Amino acid sequence: MSLLQQLEELKAEALAELNSIDDSKKLESWRVQYMGKKSKLNEVLRGLAGLSIEEKKTVGAGANSLKLDLDVALKGKEQVLGEKIDQPAGEAPLDISLPGRTPPVGRLHPITQVITEMSQIFVSMGFQVVEGPEVEWDYYNFDMLNIPKEHPARDNMQTLWVDYENEKGERPMLLRTHTSPMQIRVMEKIKPPVRIVVPGKVYRYEAIDATHIPMFTQIEGLAVDRGITLADLKGTLYDFARRYFSSDRKARFRCDFFPFVEPGVEMSIECAVCKGNGCRLCSNSGWIEILGAGMVHPRVLERVGIDPSVYSGFAFGMGIERVPMLRYGIDDIRLFYGGDLRFLRQF
Ligand code: DAH
Repeated sequence: MSLLQQLEELKAEALAELNSIDDSKKLESWRVQYMGKKSKLNEVLRGLAGLSIEEKKTVGAGANSLKLDLDVALKGKEQVLGEKIDQPAGEAPLDISLPGRTPPVGRLHPITQVITEMSQIFVSMGFQVVEGPEVEWDYYNFDMLNIPKEHPARDNMQTLWVDYENEKGERPMLLRTHTSPMQIRVMEKIKPPVRIVVPGKVYRYEAIDATHIPMFTQIEGLAVDRGITLADLKGTLYDFARRYFSSDRKARFRCDFFPFVEPGVEMSIECAVCKGNGCRLCSNSGWIEILGAGMVHPRVLERVGIDPSVYSGFAFGMGIERVPMLRYGIDDIRLFYGGDLRFLRQF
């Protein structure tokens, strides 16, 4: 048997014996037997003398690593025996002095937290929270929102179409590109007064970068009643901005276009980073756009059977991810959905 083989055998023998040792006296005689001056290991090493330099190198290295292995095993055993407490035979030693392991506790995703916080503000103003389907019909996502087939507004919403064909050979199913279709679904069911907010996921066929992902979140709002005016829209959203951001944060409205409202507006809030002076984040404008809104288009009301000469309403739609990004200075939207706990645990 070669010396290397002998070392292997010695290791197996020593470790097996060590395994069955259960008191320190036996451990000491084990140490003498395997690692002492007259140990079996040294016996093997004595055989080294007659070897060539090459062989000395390999066997020497093997003997050193065996020595280390035995030493580690010995230390481990010493610790186990030293800390051993009364224990039924055959059971692994239990160290009751070790601190317990804290079980990991889950938490709400930062976007869920924002949705809850925003919804609560609107609920306190009399809005109800509803949710709707993410797989939607063209009819609700576009047609009923005054965006007919050839309307250019469809180009702005790169749509993910579902591979489904109806009897007429049309492909009318899609992943909703915004939460606005829920305006229609709700008004079909509930007659005014209507006050709802709709948080949820939306999808767009877009290339991924620091500010774009194909799935993100919006919150939609809709209020329909007799005598609702643009003043109600502004009052509601100013109040929201004061309560969600802060009372000294400025907000402004400007004209914008959305086919399902008339007039349409966009709301911006003062940039938190530069306090309105202009910086990279706000493209030097001092303002950051957070939502689109407007007075519900009379044609939209008519289509769901609500008489626009009696009722009017306002609607708004806000992108949710931008809000915590602005609040906490997060510069990459992908962080929300990367599943990295080091990021998520900060909220
Ligand atoms: N749905 C629009 C979008 O995703 C946002 C929007 C604009 C919603 C105006 C509204 C609104 O309710 O009135 O770009």
